[in-house]
Amino acid sequence: MKIYPSLIRPLLFNLEPERAHRTVFEFFKFLQHVPSLQHVLSSRYCFDDPSLEMELFGCRFRNPVGVAAGFDKSCEIYDVLPCFGFGYVECGTVTAKDQSGNPGPRMFRLENDQALINRMGFNNHGALWVEERLKASPAPEVPLGINIGKSKVTELEKAAEDYLFTLEKLFPFANYFVINVSSPNTPGLRDLGKNLNPLLDALQKKNLEMAGKLRTRPKPIFVKLSPDMLPEELEDAVQSCLRNQVTGIIATNTTVSREGVDLGSPLEGGLSGKPLRDKSTAVLKEVHKLSKGQLILIGVGGIFSAQDAYDKILAGASLVQVYTGWVYGGPSTVTRINEGLSDLLKKDGFKNIREAVGKGA
Ligand SMILES: Cc1cc2nc3c(=O)[nH]c(=O)nc-3n(C[C@H](O)[C@H](O)[C@H](O)COP(=O)(O)O)c2cc1C
Repeated sequence: MKIYPSLIRPLLFNLEPERAHRTVFEFFKFLQHVPSLQHVLSSRYCFDDPSLEMELFGCRFRNPVGVAAGFDKSCEIYDVLPCFGFGYVECGTVTAKDQSGNPGPRMFRLENDQALINRMGFNNHGALWVEERLKASPAPEVPLGINIGKSKVTELEKAAEDYLFTLEKLFPFANYFVINVSSPNTPGLRDLGKNLNPLLDALQKKNLEMAGKLRTRPKPIFVKLSPDMLPEELEDAVQSCLRNQVTGIIATNTTVSREGVDLGSPLEGGLSGKPLRDKSTAVLKEVHKLSKGQLILIGVGGIFSAQDAYDKILAGASLVQVYTGWVYGGPSTVTRINEGLSDLLKKDGFKNIREAVGKGA
């Protein structure tokens, strides 16, 4: 008997979605104090295979499947998430100022569509709190990405200062940074994605300044894009990334489209999960084409199975991320994806992920 779909998921899905998230979060916090249970979980859920290992932008990845941003907004439980087989963790979105986000209810399940809609609005403890938290915590055993965004109270014209503040405070702790210009729940944020040059230029200057100060290398910077961009906006965004020597692009965030979902009444927010899958893979493919292999791509949106992850890799992704698929599939999701990926690579005659990247584009 599979315990998650038959027992745990029904119990969690009986709770209001954000309450279910908090319950799971509390379990992860408890787990931080029980190393023996962490070992048990790691031996159950971690799947290692040389074909999945990768060296990318100076980091070693044991597999390509990461936790997508939004699950651990303030870097509170990133250290236990690898027990569930993840190859890396992306925390955030962290903003310069702490903020409670939008009023609830702000997270909704669409069970028939295997989807979620959220309008959380970057609820997080803010850059200074996260800095203290990371100073006091051990370095993670897998690469850690930190996704940063604009505080709600900061005017759009001053957005760059907000991002720069967070980048500076969290610089020593991240293996890579993600510039989030694509969440639909912060008014005006997506406009930043339509004119990326000034923001990226300022961020790269700060990146170099911090690297000089700390006598280290500049951090890899990724830009996370929306699946709702017009073709010309997407092209502009890719050109800005190339011009500003960004390391890569994450495709994609949630969508405001409701195509293919069964909604009785309108619900504001970003849609994730199965209905987003093909749309985000199409954006990824386009970004791969536009960037001509000069950017490292991370594919996210609607990954539930190994085939979903493989499709993103064939479309150009070197790494993938999961959020909604984990909520529906439970703790063995990442194990299944990694085991299946290793089989799919073998079946197609690829020795490793790197060989398969972009081969279906
Ligand atoms: C509840 C929830 C909160 C999210 N919060 C963030 C966030 O703070 N920053 C961000 O970049 N993406 C956020 N996302 C988007 C995810 O990182 C991901 O891009 C999107 O959900 C698509 O992946 P999925 O279909 O696997 O969920 C959030 C998603 C969900 C469901």
